[in-house]
Amino acid sequence: MRGSRLAHAAGAAALVAAAGCTPRPPAPVAAPASLAAAYHGAFLVGAALNDAQFSGRDSAEAALVAAQFSSVSPENVLKWESVHPRPGVYDFDAADRYVAFGRRHGMFVVGHTLVWHNQTPRWVFEDSAGRAVSRDTLIARMRDHILTVVGRYRGRVNGWDVVNEAVADDGTLRRSPWQTIIGDDFIAMAFRFAHEADPDAQLVYNDYALENAPKRQGVLALVRLLLAEGVPITGVGLQEHDRLDWPSPESVDTTIAAFAALGVKVMITELDVDVLPRAVAQTGADVSLRAAARAELDPWPDSLPDPVQQALARRYAALFGVFLRHRGRVARVTFWGVTDRDSWRNDWPVRGRTNYPTLFGRDGRPKPAFDAVMEAAGAAGAGP
Ligand code: XIL
Repeated sequence: MRGSRLAHAAGAAALVAAAGCTPRPPAPVAAPASLAAAYHGAFLVGAALNDAQFSGRDSAEAALVAAQFSSVSPENVLKWESVHPRPGVYDFDAADRYVAFGRRHGMFVVGHTLVWHNQTPRWVFEDSAGRAVSRDTLIARMRDHILTVVGRYRGRVNGWDVVNEAVADDGTLRRSPWQTIIGDDFIAMAFRFAHEADPDAQLVYNDYALENAPKRQGVLALVRLLLAEGVPITGVGLQEHDRLDWPSPESVDTTIAAFAALGVKVMITELDVDVLPRAVAQTGADVSLRAAARAELDPWPDSLPDPVQQALARRYAALFGVFLRHRGRVARVTFWGVTDRDSWRNDWPVRGRTNYPTLFGRDGRPKPAFDAVMEAAGAAGAGP
């Protein structure tokens, strides 16, 4: 189809030339071949990368990322435990390679994440005797971490997930060590420190399951308060670790609209769609949740049956339909993983399953869901 349209255009140019008119060069009418091109002008399309991808050891996936995406996120290498494993010891080896990869390919480079209760070493919250540190000590540690990490990449990392998952399911602030030791104002402080380190960076509050009304109301109240206090927050990230049947497209629509109405940018920061049987009752993405492996929870170890493949394609088309309705308010849509092979959803909340949450198969080939997402862009008139 793509080829025949090109052939047709070339044929028409030849006819014009034969008639003695000055031929205009044929317009490039080929359909956009990448997600980034298809959504150009609507929003950036990104992926979270692992070390093998941005260091080039997995050259096939590195090439796939370069060809398909306009934004990158670091799946793990900028988390506290990776970059600041011991007091006073920073290790930027992997993070430097990640940032260099994104810059080399002219992408929007995301930093994830500065203040979170997971993947943060215990020493951050304790003194040498293992007792909780004082508020002032923890504020000083947070400030040093943010100024060092954000400062190193000032002007090269374009946006930071400053605070991750600070709100509980019921909409109150989560009782994390950050909240219990410092108090509720740890969130405002984190944003102020990040702004001090890089005044031009986009600064984002990131969380999951904001389609659940109590949690959404809690985060809306939090963002309103931050804005009222003049805290430099520029966006809200909806993680979107989704399932085939959760959340409904309508509730995603409502959620994006509610945050956009506050005047902040909205980003879809960690999109994937779990197709396997539900293993835990909770919705969302609490990484500390674990469920035991059972054969019936891992029904498709070899390949995904076609009806499920088609259901996944329809699901992705519906989600991108919602994102496109909010073009101009949604700044980017980032997948949490590039192919089904490297997705964390093979191991969470049950380890060692065979899941199919992305647009690309284990062999790196586009799945029907990829075609559905490309078609959604065309139908909405996104792209060049
Ligand atoms: C996940 C990574 O994908 C895994 O490799 C790691 O073992 C645990 O964390 N919400 C977030 C991400 O904000 O940082 C998490 O990433 C997934 C849930």
